[in-house]
Amino acid sequence: MEIAEIKAVIEQEKEAARAEADGVRDRTALQLFKSVRMGKKSVLSSLYPQLKSVPEERKKEFGREISGLKEYLENLFQEAFQRIHEQELRRKMEEKKVDITLPGYGIELGSLHPYQAVVREVTDFFLGLGFEVADGPEVETDENNFERMNIPKDHPARDMQDSFQIAEGIVLRSHTSSVQSRVMKENCPHPVKVICPGKVYRRDNDATHSHQFGQIEGLVLSPDATFANLLSLLTKLLRHLFGEKREVRFRPSYFPFTEPSIEADISCFECGGKGCAFCKQTGWIEILGAGMVHPNVLRINGYDDKVMQGFAFGLGIDRVAMLKYGIDDIKKLYEDDVDFLAQFRKE
Ligand code: PHE
Repeated sequence: MEIAEIKAVIEQEKEAARAEADGVRDRTALQLFKSVRMGKKSVLSSLYPQLKSVPEERKKEFGREISGLKEYLENLFQEAFQRIHEQELRRKMEEKKVDITLPGYGIELGSLHPYQAVVREVTDFFLGLGFEVADGPEVETDENNFERMNIPKDHPARDMQDSFQIAEGIVLRSHTSSVQSRVMKENCPHPVKVICPGKVYRRDNDATHSHQFGQIEGLVLSPDATFANLLSLLTKLLRHLFGEKREVRFRPSYFPFTEPSIEADISCFECGGKGCAFCKQTGWIEILGAGMVHPNVLRINGYDDKVMQGFAFGLGIDRVAMLKYGIDDIKKLYEDDVDFLAQFRKE
């Protein structure tokens, strides 16, 4: 072949290859391009044997032309490869596209259960006054739950707290007063200033009573703890829980473990004391029981009732929660209904 002829072939090949490379759209076409234009049967490969027949002085020039074609084809291949690669990448990104303007799923914050909210609020109040928090088991001895609280067997007061017997002499505690027995045993003859929040059990079942509910009981024993202290403490507590404007009223009552015994009412926060359906037209809402620790209780638990005196009080956690949050059925506090509980979320 003449040099001019070879140059013409090379030019032709470049043109054809360029046109083909421009049409390459995928990896299969790219492979095809490579084998057709650069493989064994390609124009490029067919040029090398021609070198032999070229006169010595023109071999260099001829060789450069062939290398030029080779380089040209390699560049075309690289360009096409790059283009396909970018296209694939773009397609993948398109498929896995994340719309960063979409709103997120959000993580819903939980909330304190209204029962627990009351426990915390009351506990905080008493911790601020220097009380300690005492604890005891829910499965209790009859002795701690009743006997040491001055409720002997066959005492009619046991009827008010009909409990669940687990075994002979073992009951589910019917009030947290059972913790008082334990605290007194542990501290006698020293003064005591505790509250005991916890679950209690009774044979009860209606809209405002459940077989399981919560109580917070307080016990203060000190030679100078007076009835006046009790009244002022309860007034402060009830105003803290239900609002500073609440009137607090005390009525005489009866508990076997206190003497004198009282019950406390607050003025109805629905009608302000005028009388409405909520307070059953009385203007008052019954809220807790209390009294001076009965001398028998002091004696049974080892204290000298001539030296030691004190007071105790107990309020229902569920009752406070129901009144504070306007809950009409105590069962709602035990159903773990998330929609119901979400209402008490503090934003
Ligand atoms: N333990 C009593 C009850 O459950 C409440 C109470 C406690 C009353 C302390 C007076 C003093 O009914």
